[in-house]
Amino acid sequence: MSTPVLAFDETVRQRSSVRAFLPTPLTDAQIQAVLQDAQYSPSNCNTQPWHVHIVSGETKTRLSQLMTDNDLAGKQKPDFTFSYDDFYGDYFDRSQEQARLYYQALGVAREDKNSRRDHYVRNYHFFDAPHAAFLFMPSFGDNIRVASDMGMYGQSFLLSLTARGFAGIPQTLLGFHADLVREALGVPEEYRLLFGISFGYADTSKVAANVRMPRIPVESSVVMHD
Ligand SMILES: Cc1cc2nc3c(=O)[nH]c(=O)nc-3n(C[C@H](O)[C@H](O)[C@H](O)COP(=O)(O)O)c2cc1C
Repeated sequence: MSTPVLAFDETVRQRSSVRAFLPTPLTDAQIQAVLQDAQYSPSNCNTQPWHVHIVSGETKTRLSQLMTDNDLAGKQKPDFTFSYDDFYGDYFDRSQEQARLYYQALGVAREDKNSRRDHYVRNYHFFDAPHAAFLFMPSFGDNIRVASDMGMYGQSFLLSLTARGFAGIPQTLLGFHADLVREALGVPEEYRLLFGISFGYADTSKVAANVRMPRIPVESSVVMHD
C-alpha cells in the first residue's frame, strides 16, 4: 500500500489535470489503494453505481489504436452528448480561456490547427499514462443523479491519486467511442460510458504536466443566506 503523503488542503490544491505521464506503472497494490479510497464516495441512496474498467499494457495499447482510428474516421459515438456550443456566457468564456491558457503554455498558436489536432489525439493515447480507468454507469431516469454520483467517484479517485503522489486526468473524450470500448472490454450494453481517467506518475519535465488553471473567487459561486 502507498501511504497518503499530503494533507487534504494540499491535496485539493495540488491536484490538476496532468497531460504528460512517465511510462512507469503503478503497482497492483497502489492501484488497489486508490480504488479502496474511491469506493468510499457518496451516492444517491448508496446505490454505488460506478462500474470501473482499468486498462494497462496490451489492452490499453489496443484500445488506444481503436479509438484513434475511429476518431480520425469521424465515427465518434458517445453515450452522452458533448458540445462546446452548449456552453454560454461566462461558461463559454471560461472554456475558451482554458484552451487559450493551455495552448499558450505549450507554445501552440491559435491558428496552428495541426498541432491542436495532435494534442486532441493525445487524449486517445492517454497522454502516455500507463493506466486508464473507464467509468461506466447504469441508466436511471434522466441519468442526472447517477452522473453526479459518478462525478463524486471521479473526484475521490483523482484526489486519492494526488494524495499518494500520483497524477490523473478526467477525460470526456475517452467516452466518445462507447460501443467500441464496451465491445473491446466485454462490458454489457446496459452500462453507459460517462468518462475515463488516465493515470500514473506525472512527467514533471513536461509543460503539459505543469499547467495550472485559474479559479473564479468563491463569492462568484456561492451566496450566503442568514
Ligand atoms: C468530467 C471531466 C471531463 C474532462 N475531459 C477532458 C478531456 O477529454 N480532455 C482534456 O484534456 N481535459 C479534460 N478535462 C480536464 C479539464 O479541462 C480540467 O479539469 C479543467 O480545465 C480544470 O483544470 P484542472 O483539472 O487542471 O484544475 C475534463 C475534466 C472533467 C471534470
